[in-house]
Amino acid sequence: MSNILCIGAGYVGGPTMAVIAKHCPQHMVRVIDMNTDRIAAWNSNQLPIYEPGLEEVVNLARGRNLFFLTDENIGEQINWADIIFVSVNTPTKSFGLGAGRAADLQFWEKTARQILEYATTPKIIIEKSTLPVRTAEAMSQILNTNSRGVQFDVVSNPEFLAEGSAIKDLEDPDRVLIGGHNTPSGKKAVETIVELYANWVPREKIITTNLWSSELSKLVANAFLAQRISSINAISALCEKTDADIEEVAYAIGTDSRIGPHFLRASVGFGGSCFKKDILNLVYICEQQGLPEVAEYWQQVLTINEYQEARFVANMVHTMFNSLSGKRIALFGAAFKANTSDTRESPALAVCRELLEEQADLSLCDPYALDNARVDLGDLSEKIRFILDPYQAAEGAHAIAILTEWSYFSELDYQRIYDSMAHPAFIFDGRNILDHQKLFEIGFNIYPIGKTPLQHFA
Ligand code: UDX
Ligand code: ADP
Repeated sequence: MSNILCIGAGYVGGPTMAVIAKHCPQHMVRVIDMNTDRIAAWNSNQLPIYEPGLEEVVNLARGRNLFFLTDENIGEQINWADIIFVSVNTPTKSFGLGAGRAADLQFWEKTARQILEYATTPKIIIEKSTLPVRTAEAMSQILNTNSRGVQFDVVSNPEFLAEGSAIKDLEDPDRVLIGGHNTPSGKKAVETIVELYANWVPREKIITTNLWSSELSKLVANAFLAQRISSINAISALCEKTDADIEEVAYAIGTDSRIGPHFLRASVGFGGSCFKKDILNLVYICEQQGLPEVAEYWQQVLTINEYQEARFVANMVHTMFNSLSGKRIALFGAAFKANTSDTRESPALAVCRELLEEQADLSLCDPYALDNARVDLGDLSEKIRFILDPYQAAEGAHAIAILTEWSYFSELDYQRIYDSMAHPAFIFDGRNILDHQKLFEIGFNIYPIGKTPLQHFA
C-alpha cells in the first residue's frame, strides 16, 4: 500500500488521480491545490471541469481512497506521501529569456522546493506536467542537493489523455510511458510506477525509457498530431481554390494504412493547452541546441494554424460584402473542441477577437464553456452577448459560424433558425459538421472548410 499525493488538481491531475484511485483501492490518493475554489468544486456535485464519465469515477472513489484538499498543510501532505505526482501548470513563459516560447517553470520549481523543504523520508517524484527536455534532470539535481540526505527519485510519466475523452484514455490507454534514471534506485522507482499502472493497464502497453526519451516523446507526440491537422488544413485552402473536396481527400489518403484515418479533420484550427505550448517549447529547444532548420520546420505547424484562423475570418468578411460592422453574428462554440468546458487557446476565441476588430456584433453560444470564455476574453467580454440557447443566439443574425464540433449543433432545427435570421443568411462551418446540402435547400449560403461553397448568388 502506498500513499499517493498529487500537487495540482487541474485537467490532468484531477481525472488521472480519480482513475488511479478507482483501480487501486489499496492505495490512498490525495489531490491538493492552492486554488481553494477548485478544491471546493472537486468536493461538490459541480466538478470544476466538464469531462464525460468523470463524475461517475469521482463519486465511486471520493471519500473512500480519493481526497481533494487545499494546500494549507502542504508540509504534512508531502511527508505523508511515498509517491508525489506533480501536475501543476507549465504555461508558455510570458517574460524574460525565451518569452512567448519557453515553458514557464515557476510553478514546477516552487513545488520542487516545497518538497525539498518538507520531505524527511524518501520519495518518488513524478513529472506529470509537460516540461522541456532535461527538466527532470534539473529537478533531480535541486532535490538531491538536500543536506538531510533524503533520497528523491524523479520519474517522467507524461500524460497522453485528450480532453473530452480523458476518462476513456486513462481507462484504456494506447500506452503508458515511464522514464527514469538508469541507476539502481531510478530503476526501482520506475518499477514502482509500472506496478501502479499494472493494476489496470496490460504490461505490454507500459513502456519504460530513459528520462529524456520520455520527456521528449511527449513533445514530439503532440507536435506530430498538430502537424497532421496543419497538413490537412493547408490542403483545405487548396481544395477551396479548386474543385477538390477535403473530406474526400482525407478519406482517400487515410485509407493508406501508413497514413491512417485519424486526426485528418480539416477545421478552423487546433487549440487546447498542449499543442501550441509544446511546439513552441520544441522550437525553442531546437534553437537552443543550435538547430535553426529543425526549429523552423516545426514552427510552420503553428504558422499554418494561425493562417487557417485568419483565413476563416477573411472569408467571412469577403463573403459578407466586405463589411461586418454592426452585423449580428452568432458564434456556435467557444470550447477548443467538443465535450470539454476548456477554452485555452481555443480557435473560437481567436475568431471572436478578430471579428470584434471588424466591429461585428457577436453572440457566443456554448453548452459548457461560456464561463471560461468570459474569463479568457477579459475586457472584450463586455462587447459580446453570452447565450446558452442557440436559437436565441441566432435570432436576427446575418451569419452563423460553427467553431466547435459539439454534435448538438448539427441536430438543431435549421428551418426555424433560418426563419428568425436576417437574409441573405450565411453559415460558415468551421468544423464541417452540418448537412450542407440540406441547409442550402432551406435557403442558407454555406461556406465549409476545404469544399466548394453552396451559394444562392453567383
Ligand atoms: C492533445 C493530445 O491529443 C493529447 O494526447 C495530449 O495529452 C494533450 O494534447 P487535447 O488538446 O485535449 O489533447 O485535444 P485533441 O483531441 O488533441 O485536439 C486538439 C485540437 O485539434 C482541438 O482544437 C481539435 O478540435 C483539433 N482537431 C483535432 C482538428 O481540428 N482536427 C482533427 O482531426 C483533430
Ligand atoms: P493542466 O491542464 O496541466 O492540468 P491546470 O491549470 O488545469 O493545468 O491545473 C494546474 C493546477 O495546479 C491549477 O489548479 C493550479 O492552481 C495548481 N497549482 C499550481 N501551482 C501549485 C502549487 N505550488 N501548489 C498547489 N497547486 C498548484
